[in-house]
Amino acid sequence: MHYIRFLKPPRPLITASPASLSAKITVTTDLGESFLLSNVSLVVELEFKDGTSVLGEGKGREFVWKGRDGMRALEILIQVPVSKGGRKIGSEMVRMLVGPKEDALAVDSFRKILDMQHQNDDSGEIGGIVPIRSMAIDINPGAKRDDTPGVGMAQRVFSMGSGNSQKGLRIWEETGESIARHIWDAGLVFSSCLAFLSLSDSTRSLSHAQKLPILKKALQRPNLRVLELGAGCGIVGITLASSIALHSVLLSDLPAASSILSRNLSTLPLPIRPKLSSQVLDWSSSLPSNVASTRWDLVLVADCTYNPDVVPDLVATLGRIVERRVVGKETLVALAMKVRHESEMVFFDLMRERGFVVRETIKIPLPVLGGEREEIEIFVFAYRD
Ligand SMILES: C[S@@+](CC[C@H](N)C(=O)[O-])C[C@H]1O[C@@H](n2cnc3c(N)ncnc32)[C@H](O)[C@@H]1O
Repeated sequence: MHYIRFLKPPRPLITASPASLSAKITVTTDLGESFLLSNVSLVVELEFKDGTSVLGEGKGREFVWKGRDGMRALEILIQVPVSKGGRKIGSEMVRMLVGPKEDALAVDSFRKILDMQHQNDDSGEIGGIVPIRSMAIDINPGAKRDDTPGVGMAQRVFSMGSGNSQKGLRIWEETGESIARHIWDAGLVFSSCLAFLSLSDSTRSLSHAQKLPILKKALQRPNLRVLELGAGCGIVGITLASSIALHSVLLSDLPAASSILSRNLSTLPLPIRPKLSSQVLDWSSSLPSNVASTRWDLVLVADCTYNPDVVPDLVATLGRIVERRVVGKETLVALAMKVRHESEMVFFDLMRERGFVVRETIKIPLPVLGGEREEIEIFVFAYRD
């Protein structure tokens, strides 16, 4: 999967008349280690805070990402109309949205993510690009701005579920150099599966989700106590709580992730918000007392096994968590990963030694535009009594 990222978040050009916004974007994989190698038309749109279009529906400006020429960054310059439908734009905040022009390439729904594996090679459009939505920008030339390069946040927007059960999910992530506090392929695919696991229809998107019967059955129990480790910006736990409102979810990570987690929790709609909380949980320290004293039913982990140096601490943490389980009642650990390197396999040796067994597993193929297919694997572990 590829992601559009702001290298320079949009800002108004003070001297330009009419007002213009400039930004710099790139299109990379989740790790940011490789750029999109294909040529793709992108569309830039502007939106008022209430979601209506500034430029007019379907009138976004087109820019071409020239991956075949080795492009690594694309400058965007876009004129802002003086007024729109009687609204004076200079006095309002606007957001910039950048996404692929071709709808089939836009990764904007969980259904599309699960359906990507069925894309037909003949279409020449294998893979997808996750669009980006900027923070609200005050285009008033006198407005105060943070000039620190690359600092800021941007939003990813996905529709969840299907038909009548379609809901929107908005997740803030950090722009800039952080590799931890943005969305990752394994977390995104895992979230898509969790959202569809909770649905009862049986369309093609569900074919993978249905292959996790143990997890699906566990999720049907009311009032599960769910803990997420290494939650990053929180997409996995937030998706679960948004899909199955009966469960309460504690999202945890290092202190550096606290502000993005709080931001994502604070913007959730009211019926879901009370079900979610976040706190610091460092795998290299003992468990916080409230975590140690809770009997967890399910632990979620996404894309946390890529660094073999911290994997022993992660497994030790999982071991401490399951020690507290109710005898005769399983604590499940549902973990998603994209294997990037052989060295990551040490995780499975350590889990086996610590007494965990794999109860079920699925592989979800992930086509990559202009590159080799990848695979996300989901494992459901239980602790052996
Ligand atoms: C690749 S990110 C995955 C984030 C998220 N699960 C997702 O899929 O979007 C790995 C996460 O593990 C967290 N992490 C790394 N070492 C940790 C530790 N010792 N204790 C707790 N979290 C840690 C990082 O802060 C980061 O958020």
